[in-house]
Formats: sequence, structure tokens, C-alpha cells
Amino acid sequence: MTFPETRLRRLRQSAPVRALVRETSLEPRQLVLPMFVREGLTDASPIGSMPGVVQHSLDSLRAAAADAADAGVGGVMLFGVPAVRDATGSGADDPRGILNVATEALAAEVGDALVVQTDLCLDEFTDHGHCGVLAADGTVDNDATLERYAAMALAQARAGSQLLGLSGMMDGQVAHLRAALDAEGFQDVLLLAYAAKYASAFYGPFREAVDSQLQGDRRTYQLDPGNRREGVREAVVDQQEGADIVMVKPAMAFLDVLREVRDAVDIPVWAYQVSGEYAMIEAAAANGWIDRRAAVLESLLSIRRAGADAVLTYWAVEAARWLRPGS
Ligand code: PBG
Repeated sequence: MTFPETRLRRLRQSAPVRALVRETSLEPRQLVLPMFVREGLTDASPIGSMPGVVQHSLDSLRAAAADAADAGVGGVMLFGVPAVRDATGSGADDPRGILNVATEALAAEVGDALVVQTDLCLDEFTDHGHCGVLAADGTVDNDATLERYAAMALAQARAGSQLLGLSGMMDGQVAHLRAALDAEGFQDVLLLAYAAKYASAFYGPFREAVDSQLQGDRRTYQLDPGNRREGVREAVVDQQEGADIVMVKPAMAFLDVLREVRDAVDIPVWAYQVSGEYAMIEAAAANGWIDRRAAVLESLLSIRRAGADAVLTYWAVEAARWLRPGS
């Protein structure tokens, strides 16, 4: 008879031992809640494909943000759904546009308690649904879009956004916006670059959440899901351009990219657990096929373990409450 010399189970024998040797932590401050605000609503309105997530009115947004601050989350990321759209997305940099008005409200309500963040992209504001403006031949015009983004960045900074989420995947967007902000005295506004954002099927429910007008796809600017090296390269370039934080998105289908990006840059790396990831777990849990709370926490822990310093997740507030000592 031979017996094992190495007994790995020793480290797993009891809850206290497991807690003492657990490598990865998950804390409320590492969670960021994406929120949707829709122009003209008087009350919150449910999103069918994202049970538990709503399009907010200005009033319900304020209340939900206060609740998020109470739960201890690290930040909120705001998306705006305008009533009217046009070819250049003019609602995006209008100080009276829904996203900027709502940002002002959030900054006043919770700006001292958490980091107020805004999505910086044109897709919610254009009538064609693309993340940029179109050239005469119908392609997305990179450099003309940068000028629109700069106007948007200044409008968001003036409204009180503390961190801009550059989700449009245009080349040079980080350097262009850093210069535009600095020239107007906004040196302290943080830039989160959606460095490795993939053209993903997991954004499906989000398109309902923002009433997306998109026909076709975003494959000329978002990354091909087959490409790992290119995702890492995007992150390295964004760091060189002056990004404060880089993002990998979606999260669970791209954990390998997340790990490599974490190893390739020395700034914070975040991951976005997107709408389709949320919808999958909610749907399975609603059918009784998985334990909802355990699956949500395991998914978040996995994203942290792969290398994310923080996670954007629609479960941010609920998970933050689960993570409180004693709950
Ligand atoms: C585009 C944007 C998208 C998401 C966030 N910002 C969708 C897209 O690229 O079509 C998706 C977020 C989610 O699915 O939760 N600005």
C-alpha cells in the first residue's frame, strides 16, 4: 500500500481553513452598476430580456443610485436613451440631452459616495445605431467620429461625470479625448478605454435596453471573437495613449483575453459582464436549473480570478449586499 505524500485536501478541510487560503476576493467596492435612463419616462420601465433591470426615469434613477451607494458599490455607469435620434447623434453633446441631464442629477445625488461614470459612444443617439458617424459610402468614419466624441466628452465632464467609458472602439479615441479634456481644464476626469471590446452575440438584451436602431453589425470596429493577440494589442495601445483603466468585454467568454491583458499592462483592468451573460444566468435560475445566488457569485469571482480589478455587472447592488459580513 502506498499513501499520498502530498495531501492537497488539507487546505480544504473546513470553512475557516478555506477562507484563510482563498486567493481571490470579491468586495462591493469592486463592482460597478450599469444603469439606463430614458428620456420622457415618468416611472421605471422593465426590460423584458433582463429581468430585474429597468430603464429609469430621472426620479427612479436618483433613488436607485442612492441605493447603490448605500450598498457600497464602487460606481455607477450611466447609459442614456434619448427620445429623438439623428445622423450625428446630436443629443449626445447637448447639455440638455438626457444623458447629460441625468449625469448632473447623479453627480449631485451620489457624486461624493461613489464614482459617477458615463458611457461615451454615439450608438444610443444616432438614427442608424452605429457607434460613430457615417461617411458618404456608409462606412463608420473614424476621425469624424473622434470630433463628435470630443464634444461628448466635454459635455459629460461639464455635467459632472468623473469617469468616461470610451466604448466606441474608434482608433485614437483615448489620445484624442485626453487632449480635448486637458485643454478645457478637465485633467482629473478618468478615461476607461474599452480596449478589447468584441463583436459579441452576448450584447443582445442590451440592444433592447437602449432601443437600438442598429441594422447590420459592428464588425468593422469591434474585435473579432477569434482574436486574442489583437485584444491584448488594443489594451497596450490604449495604455500608451493615456488610458487610466482598460476594459475587456464581454467577460465570461473572454477570460483568457482578460488574463493576458492583466499581464500586459500595469494599469487597472476591468471587465464588463454584459447583458447576455446576465440573461443566461437569470433564465437558467428562473427555470430552477442552477442556484441563482451561487452562480452569480461564482461568475463574478471567476472574472476577478481571471484578472479583473473591478467588474461592471447588472447584479452589482444585489451582489454587494450578499457580500456584506453576516449576510
Ligand atoms: C455600445 C455598447 C454596447 C454595450 C455597452 N455599450 C453594445 C454594443 O456594442 O452593441 C453592451 C452592454 C451589454 O450588453 O450589457 N456603446
